[in-house]
Amino acid sequence: MAKVCVIGAGSSGIACCQVLDARGIDFDCFEKGSRVGGNWRYDNDNGMSSAYRSLFINTSRRMMQYATYPMPDDYPDYPHHTQIARYFDDYVDHFGLRDRITFNTKVTGVEPAVEGRWEVTLDDGTSPTYEAVLVANGHHWDPRWPEPPFPGQDSSVGDQLHSHHYREPDERFQDKNVLVVGIGNSATDIAVETSRHSRMTYLAMRRGAHVLPKYLQGKPTDELGTEFLSRLPFWLTRSLFARALKQAQGRMEDYGLPTPDHKLGDAHPTISSDLLPRIGHGRIRVKPTIERIDGKSVRFADESSVDIDTIVWCTGYRISFPFLSPDIVAAIDNRIALYRRVVHPDRPGLYFIGLVQPLGAIMPIAELQSEWIADVLEGKVALPKPDEMKRVIEREDRRMRKRYVASKRHTIQVDYYPYMRVLRRERKRTRGIRRALAERSHELRLPTPTG
Ligand SMILES: Cc1cc2nc3c(=O)[nH]c(=O)nc-3n(C[C@H](O)[C@H](O)[C@H](O)COP(=O)(O)OP(=O)(O)OC[C@H]3O[C@@H](n4cnc5c(N)ncnc54)[C@H](O)[C@@H]3O)c2cc1C
Ligand SMILES: NC(=O)c1ccc[n+]([C@@H]2O[C@H](COP(=O)([O-])OP(=O)(O)OC[C@H]3O[C@@H](n4cnc5c(N)ncnc54)[C@H](OP(=O)(O)O)[C@@H]3O)[C@@H](O)[C@H]2O)c1
Repeated sequence: MAKVCVIGAGSSGIACCQVLDARGIDFDCFEKGSRVGGNWRYDNDNGMSSAYRSLFINTSRRMMQYATYPMPDDYPDYPHHTQIARYFDDYVDHFGLRDRITFNTKVTGVEPAVEGRWEVTLDDGTSPTYEAVLVANGHHWDPRWPEPPFPGQDSSVGDQLHSHHYREPDERFQDKNVLVVGIGNSATDIAVETSRHSRMTYLAMRRGAHVLPKYLQGKPTDELGTEFLSRLPFWLTRSLFARALKQAQGRMEDYGLPTPDHKLGDAHPTISSDLLPRIGHGRIRVKPTIERIDGKSVRFADESSVDIDTIVWCTGYRISFPFLSPDIVAAIDNRIALYRRVVHPDRPGLYFIGLVQPLGAIMPIAELQSEWIADVLEGKVALPKPDEMKRVIEREDRRMRKRYVASKRHTIQVDYYPYMRVLRRERKRTRGIRRALAERSHELRLPTPTG
């Protein structure tokens, strides 16, 4: 039977462990830090968490919980990061997985080895080999600074940090002029928080967003989307949702925000029930994109200038795999060609779990991706031939480029329910009888892509 390596014990890696363990598939899981939970472990000693002290989830708990292990009933709709980290601790203890994870161990290399195996190099100097590697190293830890930098950014005399390093509104923000750049969820959370401590917080963006509240019609907003609604045409659900949103909070322009250059659902959702009132209180001033920085002075595209003490670049993250050679995987501009966002079409045995940016939460997706790959490892289901996988990858890429705002943040987007249906369909893809018999007679340890 195959032995598998799982890289990372964040919420995606522990889902892999749970599924592999339940199937009786032998595995090692290596985690750089000393605890599980990845991003959700505030000040994680892996040095990679982007969580700030005040962070609450923005996907509701019922959407975020694993199918096999619901969050406690006494949790609020949108728990604090400490509760989320506790949930992941409880999950690994419930399934008895903690002893199966090797902590404080960083994977430094993953290379093809003989007989289709993979050699995994660890920072303890050892290099075990495996039939398959499940990469679950997360994609929100490697900060993306503005590319290219704004004119004058490098010689600015002001204080600058990326949202990845933001923890709390400390002295860098107290009574200061703060500029927050971006209109994603980091930007809105951080602008709202600093606006309670700064002299003034400015929020600069290069395009507008449809800011969604955490609740609509008395329900967590993401719970308004359902499996049933997701089967209706997208234009219809979009227009129903847009109408409910307009009734609840009007238009973005009513708050001085720019008109979004895209329709609702064509960008990763920005969710904040606090941003619009903070603008209304006059504590956050909206600005267009930066034109240039000159010392402390920041000049914006509307020709206004403000002296800024601290800039927080909430400009997103890079997808990166420092342990994989770019010949194997290169996520240039965050683009990575994977079948169903999981399978490398040319590298049998290399899989990526949790590498999605869903309209919904990552955890149940990572869980189902793991079930699918466990099916593949057990030889219960087949993968298409590489050429067919590449055709599907290209088709999905074309569809995504057509729908989403052109941005490096929109390269791995999936719609929660349709994507879960696709994964369920993949789990039913049986292998050709001839191929299955051939594999059995040759006692292959792992299935290779088949038709
Ligand atoms: C501020 C913020 C808030 C978010 N809020 C939400 C939310 O509300 N809902 C939601 O669904 N998503 C949210 N996300 C997205 C986030 O990516 C997921 O919640 C989740 O953390 C993904 O889990 P993961 O296991 O894939 O990655 P991570 O949580 O990043 O975990 C990766 C793990 O891999 C380990 N690792 C990495 N490299 C190595 C290596 N070389 N060797 C060994 N171990 C390694 C790390 O130490 C880490 O433990 C948020 C992201 C951010 C930045
Ligand atoms: N409370 C929460 O649960 C919470 C909080 C924070 C983050 N998150 C999650 O964490 C992930 C990352 O979010 P994020 O907000 O850090 O990143 P993000 O979603 O990638 O958003 C980056 C923002 O920066 C802008 N940007 C990028 N480069 C720019 C440039 N050069 N000039 C001007 N603007 C630029 C982007 O604009 P364009 O669209 O034009 O590219 C976008 O508005 C998301 O999944 C998010 O949902 C969740």
